Amino acid sequence: MSLKALFLVVNTWASASRFTAEEQCLHAYQRVGVRRSLLADPSGTLGRRLRGRWTGDHRSDSLQRAHREGLFRVTDRFDAGAQLGEEEMLWSREYGEDGSFNFWSLGRPKVEIQKLAAELQEAAGENDGLTAVVLGCGLGLDVSYLAREACKSTSSTMTAVAGVDFALPAIQEARRQHSSAGCFFHHADVCELPAPTVPLDLVVDNTVFQNTYRSGRFEEYLDTLSRISTPGHTMLHLNLMSREGIEAREEFDESMEYLNLPLLCRSDICAALKPEIWEIWQIREGHYDLNPEGAGFECEAFHTFGGNSSPGIPSWCVVAARI
Ligand SMILES: C[S@@+](CC[C@H](N)C(=O)[O-])C[C@H]1O[C@@H](n2cnc3c(N)ncnc32)[C@H](O)[C@@H]1O
Repeated sequence: MSLKALFLVVNTWASASRFTAEEQCLHAYQRVGVRRSLLADPSGTLGRRLRGRWTGDHRSDSLQRAHREGLFRVTDRFDAGAQLGEEEMLWSREYGEDGSFNFWSLGRPKVEIQKLAAELQEAAGENDGLTAVVLGCGLGLDVSYLAREACKSTSSTMTAVAGVDFALPAIQEARRQHSSAGCFFHHADVCELPAPTVPLDLVVDNTVFQNTYRSGRFEEYLDTLSRISTPGHTMLHLNLMSREGIEAREEFDESMEYLNLPLLCRSDICAALKPEIWEIWQIREGHYDLNPEGAGFECEAFHTFGGNSSPGIPSWCVVAARI
């Protein structure tokens, strides 16, 4: 990424509204105490715990419809004559020639998405299929990977995975590279996404959570999560950068100050996912893949954190079930 582009990122994040973490932390820690029993997965792996969750009389009809027609009736923002906001213009520039999209994508599916797909394979029954959306899908790699891999262990080809992003160049590229049966890409604002036409099994978020937290659109974002999920059915998988994880590793100090990424702590996440709507099944430290060379700088910490897998920074990986 050019320095100019990097400073654009930094300035936009810096000028957006501040964290309210301090107040929320205290309150949320009390809650975390209450919920701790939910975080320990009593039946072993996530895959095993998920098994049998996505069944029902109309399941096969819904899957076929979703595979054929997609999951959302939504008109692309330009076609709908939408006014572009500052945030989406910034992100759209990120995917341009001087943009920093190389920083955000290693050019392969994220490690955490690969783990998730493996868990979904473990959970999948013979005719299960999958309906899923990736919020902030960028160039669409995770969408295509989930659509291909999540049900690989079964004979079901009935997957429908949608990617949503408000950066038009990203969606155009995603469509160009990954258009195949069961993959759908929408140029849309996550906060304005309508309810899906069939129940979603899975909602995956690629940092829109932390971006809207920073930009002051967090309530709209949380409303979207409720709107697009189905009680008793939908699972949520969040992958967002971890404040605690970064602060615990002084090797990150220099570059983090410079990048000024919107970082959240565990208690912010717990406070946001209201217990009457989401039951948190798992919060663990994971990995958010990033490519520092793509941003035009070197930082050893990105690589040592990623180990043999890929460069990245510590993240919170959250799995929650819609109540
Ligand atoms: C950190 S990037 C992730 C990129 C992508 N997952 C990848 O690795 O290629 C976050 C993405 O979220 C998108 N985004 C942020 N806020 C959004 C919103 N409110 N609606 C739609 N997309 C959003 C940005 O355009 C950007 O592509």
